Amino acid sequence: MTIIRAVPAGVGSYLPERIMTNDELSKTVDTTHDWIVERTGIHRRHIAADGEMTSDLALHAASQALDMAAMEIGEIDLIVVATATPDQTFPSTATRVQNRLGMHHGFAFDVQAVCSGFVYALSVATQFIETGKARGAIVIGSETFSRILDWSDRTTCVLFGDGAGAVVLKGEAGTGTTADRGVLSTELRSDGAHNASLYVDGGPSTTGLAGQLRMNGREVFKHAVRNLAEIGEAALATANLTSSDVQWVVPHQANARIIASTAQKIGVEMNRVIVTVQDHANTSAASIPLALDVAVRDGRIRQGDLLLLEAMGGGFTWGAAAVRW
Ligand code: UT7
Repeated sequence: MTIIRAVPAGVGSYLPERIMTNDELSKTVDTTHDWIVERTGIHRRHIAADGEMTSDLALHAASQALDMAAMEIGEIDLIVVATATPDQTFPSTATRVQNRLGMHHGFAFDVQAVCSGFVYALSVATQFIETGKARGAIVIGSETFSRILDWSDRTTCVLFGDGAGAVVLKGEAGTGTTADRGVLSTELRSDGAHNASLYVDGGPSTTGLAGQLRMNGREVFKHAVRNLAEIGEAALATANLTSSDVQWVVPHQANARIIASTAQKIGVEMNRVIVTVQDHANTSAASIPLALDVAVRDGRIRQGDLLLLEAMGGGFTWGAAAVRW
């Protein structure tokens, strides 16, 4: 059977120039480099410059991904930006990126699932490609979480960073088997009962201000390990695959301990897991495509490898995707 697959054609990323170390943070809040490394695995994070916006980061990442794909903007019909830190309440960051890429056809919109945003956006773009509604799509995760952090709260401000990553997807004929390149399955879940465990205390229809991030870290941690392992296994099962088929797990980069526990539950050794949390911290929706870009460019991820992407974030939302690169 011939079907249309959403095949990755290129990947790109962007990190703001400024690097903030743990030692630097320990001068402004009551924390230490050792505490942050031991509890999270984070050594440093990038912070956007004054005036540098989520759409700027996204534009850099998308341009790099288009270059790798060797595709013209005319071949792209859809841009999806996953972000919880848009430039403005509206218009969408995606339409701002669309305009700056010189794309005046097709359609662009944002997806908001916080740290699961990239998996959600990938799933949405895949549906449009598989149904023939878009020939090519750019799926971007881009965040400036530094703008919504309470820099006096040591329990949250040490955990996050800014950055963007992008993947270009192209509709190509597949056979319908697991040997096909492309997105082989996606699984998405959410449960709003957990809104209060991870949220921003503001917004257009509440305070009228952007607000700041608030989190019950222990509560998120507890759910993360369980939900991520379940959803990872579900995405593999939907595609008729098992963990032994996986070459690389590319997880959301929130905490090295969550990454390791989830890998262990799924049954994948850490030498098959891409970890960038030490350099990027938690960049929310940008973390998976940033990690993908690192591992594709350093030669670990190669064409034909089976990848398992998994993420969890505020809402709670969580999701996973099985992708043959
Ligand atoms: O992307 C999805 C969203 N986020 C996540 O996935 C994050 C999930 N949660 C986590 O990663 C972890 O829960 C944290 C890294 C946030 C915290 O690690 P933990 O091992 O769960 O620590 P804890 O919250 O149990 O805190 C232990 C202690 C507390 O002191 P007491 O109450 O034991 O006296 C905290 O006040 O560590 C203290 N603490 C700190 N100490 C130094 C909290 N933050 C810091 C800090 N520096 N930055």
